[in-house]
Amino acid sequence: MNSPTLTSTSPAASAVTVRKIYGTGDSEVRALDGVTVSFERGKFTAIMGPSGSGKSTLMHCMAGLDSLTEGEVSIGSTTLAGLSDKELTMLRRKQIGFVFQAFNLIPTLSAYENIVLPLSLDGATGDATWIDSVIDTIGLRDRLDHRPSELSGGQQQRVAVARALASKPAIIFADEPTGNLDSRTGGEVLGFMRRAVTDLGQTIVMVTHDAVAASYADRIVFLKDGKLAGEMVSPTPDKVLDFLKHLGE
Ligand SMILES: Nc1ncnc2c1ncn2[C@@H]1O[C@H](COP(=O)(O)OP(=O)(O)O)[C@@H](O)[C@H]1O
Ligand SMILES: [Mg+2]
Repeated sequence: MNSPTLTSTSPAASAVTVRKIYGTGDSEVRALDGVTVSFERGKFTAIMGPSGSGKSTLMHCMAGLDSLTEGEVSIGSTTLAGLSDKELTMLRRKQIGFVFQAFNLIPTLSAYENIVLPLSLDGATGDATWIDSVIDTIGLRDRLDHRPSELSGGQQQRVAVARALASKPAIIFADEPTGNLDSRTGGEVLGFMRRAVTDLGQTIVMVTHDAVAASYADRIVFLKDGKLAGEMVSPTPDKVLDFLKHLGE
């Protein structure tokens, strides 16, 4: 039973003793080795850790894009293991937004058409007031008719984040969203993500290698060898670099 109180206080997403093992025998890789973590609603969380530490695997498992070997993940109060394939697809479409390193915009559609595409595919018009506030926050109102090729990399990625926000998902997972951007255009995207959390109340989880990018978050979760290796609230670039040094990156 979902009581309203329970729903409002439960985290946006959580993982409990999650293990993900790829391969068997000599080729076995423990991508996640007993990770328990939760992501609070209305917060911006960064995930950091050395290459191969399990960051992308954690995100994919939490979003139901990859199956677990052991453990449990939930989006809101819904445990993914209990869902049929169809229910999982619906949950992903309505409750989860994704942003990847490559912008993945449709080149023949305008910025606006790209933003509302997931809704149109669903036969929905979406919440017009919400989409309007997303467009205000993204700061690209005068570029909505432009095709992706007519926008800078930072502008394209802001469109991709707006597209992830359009359905007002419970959580957005962003895997190195600024990995292909220089620091200035990356900053535009991070500023927009920060405003989506502070001004629009969204929940964002972002994987990043970059200490400055991570300092936009409210909290950082560190992974190493598939295990939780620490966390930090109110990060600054200096504090992050210092922690990473001790983590052995
Ligand atoms: N599909 C897969 N098959 C086999 N091994 C994988 C697969 N995906 C990831 N891995 C391995 O799992 C570990 C964690 O990978 P990943 O989550 O991509 O790390 P990160 O995103 O932190 O760089 C790595 O050793 C990687 O090689
Ligand atoms: Mg990765």
